[in-house]
Amino acid sequence: MEAVVVDMGSKYLKAGFAIPDQPPSLMIPTQMKHVAQDEKSHFLPTEVKTVDPVVRGFVNDWDAIEDLLHHVLYSGLGWEIGNEGQILFTDPLCTPKAIRERLVQMMFETFNISGLYASEQAVLSLYAVGRISGCTVDIGHGKTDIAAVIEGAVQHIASKRFEIGGIDLTKLFAQELLKANPKVNLDIAEAERLKEKYSRCAEDEIAYEKTNQCKIEKHILPDGQMIKIGRERYTVGEALYQPSMLGLEAYGIVEQLVRCISTVSSENHRQLLESTVLCGGTVSMSGFEDRFQKEANLCSSAVRPSLVLSPEYMPENLSKYSAWIGGAILAKVVFPQNQHITKGDYDETGPSIVHRKCF
Ligand SMILES: Nc1ncnc2c1ncn2[C@@H]1O[C@H](COP(=O)(O)OP(=O)(O)OP(=O)(O)O)[C@@H](O)[C@H]1O
Ligand SMILES: [Mg+2]
Repeated sequence: MEAVVVDMGSKYLKAGFAIPDQPPSLMIPTQMKHVAQDEKSHFLPTEVKTVDPVVRGFVNDWDAIEDLLHHVLYSGLGWEIGNEGQILFTDPLCTPKAIRERLVQMMFETFNISGLYASEQAVLSLYAVGRISGCTVDIGHGKTDIAAVIEGAVQHIASKRFEIGGIDLTKLFAQELLKANPKVNLDIAEAERLKEKYSRCAEDEIAYEKTNQCKIEKHILPDGQMIKIGRERYTVGEALYQPSMLGLEAYGIVEQLVRCISTVSSENHRQLLESTVLCGGTVSMSGFEDRFQKEANLCSSAVRPSLVLSPEYMPENLSKYSAWIGGAILAKVVFPQNQHITKGDYDETGPSIVHRKCF
């Protein structure tokens, strides 16, 4: 049986058997519904609460993630109880040791898996484009990770995690839309759908300044209300280049990348910056990549970032699941070559084995 690869993102859980040139077979919301029932109501649901088990990239509700993984592995992928296979997890940058250990413990003790490996998302996203060195800018839903990787190892001094992601852009978009449409009732899920459909990046700051005269789109919401979408659609993308729009005193994304890389020895700058990979769902915003490259070309640094294109043999929209694809590539190596944590290793050493065997 092929190993399973799982990327538990703040918004989407990507999972599937390790077939490296195919997208993950499951991409579902990382969400659970808790249904309260009581005897008085004859066990009919009295309250339904939505739970997000992964927040800003890290698991924060272990019961909910256990239920979700149970569903994914047994119902979604067809594992059988008593015959569980091997699994590879993708770790976001700076995952606390305690979280890695708890996941390993849950997988061996509750799921009784036969083997496990975990690797950092930045390394995996580079594998997906056929590189072992370079840097990644991963803008997901809950966080942005900028990482430098040399020969398959994350250079932590030149890597940084930012607590900004698609969720913050959705909130900004909702807020801006409500300013322009004060009478409209807009929930956050609908605002997110509108963001994914309409938001785009202006070519540069000057072009953004001119967007106050842009065409106004009229969109009919599912409940029949009409909403007007104008400049707001550009504001969302602009916030990644001018974070002050999100109320943050931070540099734009290209400047952040160059600053991160400048902390490693200058002889590595070219190797890193000239293999920059953009990943995460948010980078699929239309115009994002062009704006990134345009700003990169204007950098005053000696070496300017340039983007690695997705190889032709890779599936479309690779950036949305590049960490998962890299995980599938790695799974094809670590499990057959016995570099993974076995049940025997776990029984002998306990959860801390993950820090020794998986890096
Ligand atoms: N076309 C688009 N324009 C703008 N945002 C988009 C688009 N498509 C997807 N997104 C956003 O991408 C985010 C999901 O990306 P991704 O799947 O990489 O996140 P994740 O892995 O679940 O989260 P994280 O890695 O931050 O824990 C959501 O916020 C979603 O709204
Ligand atoms: Mg992610």
